This record gives sequence, structure tokens and C-alpha cells, in this order.
Amino acid sequence: MLKVEKLEAGYGKKQVLFGIDLEASSGKITAIIGPNGSGKSTVLKSIFSLIPVWNGSVIYNGENITNRGTRANVNNGIGFVPQGNRVFDEMTVLENLEIGGLHLPKDRFKEELKKIWGLFPELEKRKKQNSGKLSGGEKQMLSLGRALIINPKMLLMDEPSLGLSSKLVKFMMGHILKINREFGVTVLIVEQKVREVLEICHHIYSIKLGKIAYSGKPEILKTDKQKLKKLFL
Ligand SMILES: Nc1ncnc2c1ncn2[C@@H]1O[C@H](COP(=O)(O)OP(=O)(O)OP(=O)(O)O)[C@@H](O)[C@H]1O
Ligand SMILES: [Mg+2]
Repeated sequence: MLKVEKLEAGYGKKQVLFGIDLEASSGKITAIIGPNGSGKSTVLKSIFSLIPVWNGSVIYNGENITNRGTRANVNNGIGFVPQGNRVFDEMTVLENLEIGGLHLPKDRFKEELKKIWGLFPELEKRKKQNSGKLSGGEKQMLSLGRALIINPKMLLMDEPSLGLSSKLVKFMMGHILKINREFGVTVLIVEQKVREVLEICHHIYSIKLGKIAYSGKPEILKTDKQKLKKLFL
């Protein structure tokens, strides 16, 4: 579904990614792990056109979407959940979701909203409250809900478990699995909670210093603790 080939990108003159090759298969959950600063977020940002790709290509369903722009990606059914639960604190929960669904016809928005409330009933209870008052976990749910409102075919998620308690990490992973299985959304997820993401993903990549250091089935890393440790050294 998504194929990234020889991707190079960075900030200003600083190159961060040095030829990343990866694939996210349709209907599956693909995870990216790796140490801090290794370039995980940069991969997602360049796929979604938040920063320009220097070299290489991003192919989505056979179409070259490299540097197409975020709007084109949303129209193509790609949703993005940025790192660090970025919600608009001064707006209500509902208003945040309305921003995500800005380009949807009203009846479609209502339909999608029902799905979000079904997934996160806690958000519905607090729909009229300012988002600034939500807990970290609830903000993360709202951030996910805002990306889901367009009924995406594919979701790019950047550390949805960041800052959450271990109980909430499990809750979040369970919901990501649900979104994948029940809504049929293909997922490309960046995570630092390796043990937890290994339980839900079908394929895993590790990035180190802007290069792919590992690509394989999660089962291998689950049993080979030494190998896993090495990926973070
Ligand atoms: N906006 C930016 N301007 C300049 N340099 C940046 C910017 N964002 C990230 N970098 C640098 O690019 C490198 C890769 O950053 P990136 O955010 O992709 O890492 P990451 O793997 O997502 O790390 P983390 O696990 O901490 O989120 C780092 O050296 C970082 O300092
Ligand atoms: Mg990051």
C-alpha cells in the first residue's frame, strides 16, 4: 500500500535520513522503533509532506506522492497523528474534531463522529469541555480521533503512547488494533514502547542514525532480547 524508497531528508543543511526503504502492507500494522533522534518522526513527516523529501520516493497505491502536500495526502485517505498529542487547548473536544473534519459534508461528519464516540466514549462525555482540561491520555485519544474523522485508509501515528501510564499504553494499543481490524485501517506507527508495540504489529523496522537497522517479523525480536537491545545501543 505504501512504499518508501531510498528516502533522504533533513532540516536546513542537516541530513537526517540516509536512504530509508520501507513498506507498509495493506490491512496490516507496521511499526518503526529506534533510539531518540534516530529519525523516526522525520520519516513520517516526509511521507506526509510536512517536510520536503530531498531524494527518493513515496509510493502510495502505486502512485508517486512524493512532496505532494498534506492536503493531497488527506484527500488520498492518509491520516496523520503527530508526536506529543497536539490538540487545540482553547477549543472544545467537539471543535477539535470539527477541525479534523473541516472538508467533510455535514452528514458524513455526523456519521464519522458517531464512530469516534463509540471508540472513545470518554470523549463524548466531555465534548463541550475545553481540550486543555483533558488528561494526557484523553488528549492522545482526541488527537487520534481528529485523524480518524476523515475515515482514512491509512494512518501514520507518531508515538501515540508518549507520556501515558502503562495501563493507558495497553488501552491505546488495544484501540489501535481495533482501528486496524474493525475499520480496516492500514497503520504505520512509530513507537518507543517496544514490548507493547511488538504485541500488535505484523512487521517491524528499526531505525538507527537515519538508516534501517532491522526489518523483520516481531516474533523474532520478542524472543531474541540481545538483538532487540542492540538496536537501541
Ligand atoms: N525541526 C527540526 N529542525 C532541526 N532539526 C531537527 C528538527 N526536528 C528534528 N531534528 C533533528 O533531526 C534528528 C532526527 O529527529 P527525529 O525527530 O526524526 O527523531 P526521532 O527518532 O523521532 O526521535 P524521538 O524518539 O526523540 O521522537 C535529530 O537529530 C533532531 O535533533
Ligand atoms: Mg519522534
